[in-house]
Parts: sequence; C-alpha cells; structure tokens
Amino acid sequence: MELQLFETHEMQSAAAAALIINTVKKDPAAVFCFATGDSPRRTYELLAERAAGEKIDFSKCTLIGLDEWMGVDPANTGSCHCFLQTYLIKPLGLSPGQVHLFDAMATVEQSECEKMDQFIREKGGIDCMLVGVGMNGHIGFNEPGTSEHLTAHVIGLDPITLTVGQKYFTDTMQAKKGITLGLKQVMEARMLLMMANGKKKAGIIQQAAEGAISNKVPASLIRQHHNGILMLDSEAASALKQQ
Ligand code: F6R
Repeated sequence: MELQLFETHEMQSAAAAALIINTVKKDPAAVFCFATGDSPRRTYELLAERAAGEKIDFSKCTLIGLDEWMGVDPANTGSCHCFLQTYLIKPLGLSPGQVHLFDAMATVEQSECEKMDQFIREKGGIDCMLVGVGMNGHIGFNEPGTSEHLTAHVIGLDPITLTVGQKYFTDTMQAKKGITLGLKQVMEARMLLMMANGKKKAGIIQQAAEGAISNKVPASLIRQHHNGILMLDSEAASALKQQ
C-alpha cells in the first residue's frame, strides 16, 4: 500500500481526480466503482470540472455504484443513487448503459447481488475503485467483522453506520440494511483508492493504517492490497504514530 498525505482536503481531492483522469486517458473503457459520501464529493466535483474543461472522454467507461441503502427510493436525495446522479452521472454525461447501480427496491435481494457479481465478471473486473472509510472502519457497507470472502451481499447495518448515515438525509433515515460489493471485490480491484479527511476520521485511520490488519477494521485490509493508495488530508493523518 502507498500512503499519500496532503495538507488540505482540496489538494487530496485534486490528486484523486487526477488519478481517475489518468486511468480513463490510458484506458477509455475503464471500469470504475465509486463510493458516495463526504470524502469523495469534492473529488467528483473537480473531476467533472476537469472533464468539461479538458474535454476528457468518459463515453466508453463504466461506472458501478459501490453500495446503497436498502429500501431507500433512488429519488431520495440521501440515496447513493441520487448522489452519483448529481455528482458524476449527469456532469460526466454518462448514459444509462454505462452505469450499473444496485436496485435498493429489489424484492429478491439475492438475485440483485448475483446480477452485480455477474456484471462485474462480464466486465472483466474493476479497474479503479474509490472508497471512503466509515467511522467504524467500514468499506462500502462491509461492516466490522464482514467476511473477506464475500462478493455482493445485503447486510444489517452497524449502529454507528445507522447513526452517522442520517447526515445524508433530510428526512428520517429508514434503512436498516445495506447492499454492497463485498471485500473480495474490493481487494480484487486493480487499483484501490481510499480517501479520508477531517479530524473525526483520525482515530479510525490510525487503527486502519497502524493497527492489526483484520476484517474487524475492514479499512485495514487496504494494506494487503496489491495496488492500494491511502489518501489522507493532514487532519485524518493527525493520529498516525509514524508521521
Ligand atoms: C458510501 C460508502 C461508505 C462511505 C463511508 C464514509 O457509498 O461506501 O462506506 O464511504 O461511510 O462516508 P463519508 O465519506 O461521508 O465520511
């Protein structure tokens, strides 16, 4: 794993956007899988700005959504679906055929997960995945203790995720379960970018970067990834013992 430290979140976001742009320039048909949330939001804004300004071609790439709140309508502004529409799909002009997101309203959960697994297999895997880190160390909705051998699955959400998740919603968050790519797919991505910023992430980042490598802190598994890049701003890195 490579550790990249940035003085500010803005610099971190610009660097992440540049990595994504380099990936699509090298391979216009790249398969991306992106998280939603506060950590990557600025990256996506900068990506969209650069894509428009520099006429970068995203018309052949694929976007896979990392996860979704089960049972939350895609029109709800708190959904991952709505976030990806707002920050990536619309600004980059991605067509429906380029995008594969979990259907949070699916009644047969197992087949929704199998559809995602099959889609990723047919695409030949994920070239570049960008993930955040939950306050409990989760990746996507792979909560602490989730098996590293799982692919897409539905999971009961951890109390911390339920509490923190309310920040995305204007109404009361109703989801109790999440649907997510599994840690197996995270570890198999050809490039794994993990971003964390802000003081509140300092404690969990210290555990992930310097504590035991274990699925008890899923984010720690990035240290075993063959091409993992942990991108931190100075606040998220502030509790690291080895600076
Ligand atoms: C969201 C996702 C989550 C978040 C994590 C951090 O699609 O996969 O795992 O990345 O909860 O959220 P933020 O970035 O809002 O702090």
